[in-house]
Amino acid sequence: MSKPSRVALVTGGTVGIGAAISESLLGAGYRVAANYARNVEAACMFEARTGIATFAWDVSDLQACARGVTRVQTALGPVEVLVNNAGVTRDALLHKMTVAQWREVIDVDLGGCFNMCRSVIEGMRERHYGRIINVSSVNALAGQAGQTNYAAAKAGMIGFTKSLALESAAFNITVNAIAPGYTDTAMVAAVRPDLLAQILKTVPCGRLARPAEIARGVLFLAADDAGFISGTTLSINGGKYLS
Ligand code: CAA
Repeated sequence: MSKPSRVALVTGGTVGIGAAISESLLGAGYRVAANYARNVEAACMFEARTGIATFAWDVSDLQACARGVTRVQTALGPVEVLVNNAGVTRDALLHKMTVAQWREVIDVDLGGCFNMCRSVIEGMRERHYGRIINVSSVNALAGQAGQTNYAAAKAGMIGFTKSLALESAAFNITVNAIAPGYTDTAMVAAVRPDLLAQILKTVPCGRLARPAEIARGVLFLAADDAGFISGTTLSINGGKYLS
């Protein structure tokens, strides 16, 4: 008898890179739950188009995450693959950055990673299986003017990833990060066109990534036979960090 397909939960999984990750996991045979925070219209359209179940909660709220994971597990079964993709930007140069801009990015991008991992890790340890993939950024590695908040949160995810990988290795749980470069999403489309043109000049491939090209890396790390890869950060950035 064939094994039942594994359950994957993708935060921020209805738009942008997250939507591409949800869809590629579905295409590979996973049972997928896509979380979103506020954009009900996009989530409804995504669910209608893909058939992927969507679940609303705010990843910056630990109690909401715990309740959300319970809802997903009731609907689909124990979460075996967690993709922490939800993230926001509040770009500003540091001398103009407000405490609210700092906190929101830290709370959603880095706090969300803690809250979601905290909500699934005990079950994964009990079941002796898990794949956690944290979506960081090229800007965690290279830095980016205007993104002290975002780069700090995304770099924090990398240290978090390595530490949780060490804690989890004996439980057949892998924890890895991916570091996407500039990708064709609404988040990047919001960058001022002249600045984006400058940034693109530093990308050896000379173009934005397609969301599916980022999802490709997630699929690789989520696989059953990726069990010896843990604590690593996979850059998918068109060579930008090399330049
Ligand atoms: N390095 C050093 N100084 C810089 C700078 C840079 N790269 N960019 C701007 N400055 C300086 C300017 O020279 C200018 O100085 P003066 O006032 O002395 O002339 C000053 O900063 C103001 O520049 P701006 O007019 O650009 O400032 P602003 O306040 O209008 O905009 C900003 C600031 C919003 C941060 C804008 O620079 C910006 O949007 N930057 C892009 C940030 C970015 O790449 N975000 C990525 C979003 S996508 C994402 O995050 C996904 C991912 O993972 C890749």
